Amino acid sequence: MKPSLPAAIALAVTALPAFAQDEAIDNATLREDAQFYFEAIPTEPVAPEGNELTPARVDLGAMLFFDPRMSRSGLFSCQSCHNVGIAGVDGLEVSIGHGWQQGPRNAPTMLNAIFNIAQFWDGRAPDLAEQAKGPVQAGVEMNNTPENVVATLESMPGYVEAFAAAFPAEEAPISFDNFAVAIEAFEATLITPNSRFDQFLNGDDEAMTDQEKRGLAAFINTGCVSCHAGINFGGQDYFPFGLIERPGGSVLPEGDRGRFEVTQTADDEYVFRAAPLRNVALTAPYFHSGVVWDLSEAVAVMSSSQLGTEMEEEQIEEIVAFLGTLTGEQPQVVHPILPVRGSNTPKPQP
Ligand code: HEM
Ligand code: HEM
Repeated sequence: MKPSLPAAIALAVTALPAFAQDEAIDNATLREDAQFYFEAIPTEPVAPEGNELTPARVDLGAMLFFDPRMSRSGLFSCQSCHNVGIAGVDGLEVSIGHGWQQGPRNAPTMLNAIFNIAQFWDGRAPDLAEQAKGPVQAGVEMNNTPENVVATLESMPGYVEAFAAAFPAEEAPISFDNFAVAIEAFEATLITPNSRFDQFLNGDDEAMTDQEKRGLAAFINTGCVSCHAGINFGGQDYFPFGLIERPGGSVLPEGDRGRFEVTQTADDEYVFRAAPLRNVALTAPYFHSGVVWDLSEAVAVMSSSQLGTEMEEEQIEEIVAFLGTLTGEQPQVVHPILPVRGSNTPKPQP
């Protein structure tokens, strides 16, 4: 049974002695404790349930991910807001989509998203395939319809061929469902293994500096680990944002009540998925509101709002240094050549 939160924090706090500045670090104990809470990212992609990572399917997913013609305006692709060159984010406070509209939330990275329990800040999509159907139809993102996406795909011989190769057993390979399945297959390959933390976890004492190791110990000791655990250091469960103390209105805007909108349960007001922290040094700005640009400030907000403590600056710096070791090898993605439009390809619309 999962312990209740304060108990979980208490458990975490007693789990490991903090390392004082001048104290030698016991690598074996630190590693053992870290192995209890965290897992390394696998070096090879793993197929999501019900999907296959055949080269034809992954390549098709990449084409769809990069193709702005999947949006009504012909301007926005998944890449617009999840740029693979900048760790899968857009670097904006909140995303800008169709008609230059601002969406309500910051765009989280799709790197390693395959390992999250569910997708979105509030976990409203159960998996990546279901998730991929959202932005295409969202008015403030790509503002398209499934029918127009399918008509666009069917009008281009290059896509007819690519879908047939990706779904060889199916009579009608082009469908909105298969569009999403192919994108999911591509996203499953977007993982960032071999971070310095993973190297340490796998036995290399030299992979992290003493300051970073102290940060790891503090991350466990102070209780961050009670919410940010598992393979993605988050993305595995839901918690109230402002558990102990509500952060200011701009960090936690009143109008966005998080999981409450999904479950309509009072207990879920201002509950959000613990943000995954892999590559977090690369994904500013922070929180679903995207108003915090500095990682030290984000850690200080967490410390006061989630743990009810004011951390010393030195400890914040150690934790920030540790979070930097969660940066893994970024996937090298070659921009695919996209099929040429056909004579009946629907035209972009404003
Ligand atoms: C969330 C993928 C298009 C903005 C996500 C997530 C994934 C994803 C996997 C969830 C990540 C997580 O929860 O950790 C895609 C794909 C797209 C696409 C495959 C194309 C089909 C876009 C576009 C925009 C955008 C065009 C900006 C206009 C966002 C935002 C969120 C999000 C703001 C968070 C929304 C929320 O939590 O309510 N996307 N995305 N995405 N994406 Fe996209
Ligand atoms: C978000 C770190 C403790 C729950 C975040 C973010 C960081 C972070 C850097 C922002 C990530 C991003 O926007 O990409 C930490 C650290 C902690 C800590 C260093 C210890 C000092 C906790 C605890 C909980 C928690 C104890 C649960 C009680 C969450 C949630 C979010 C989050 C729900 C998402 C907030 C949102 O919706 O914007 N954390 N965290 N964190 N953390 Fe923590």
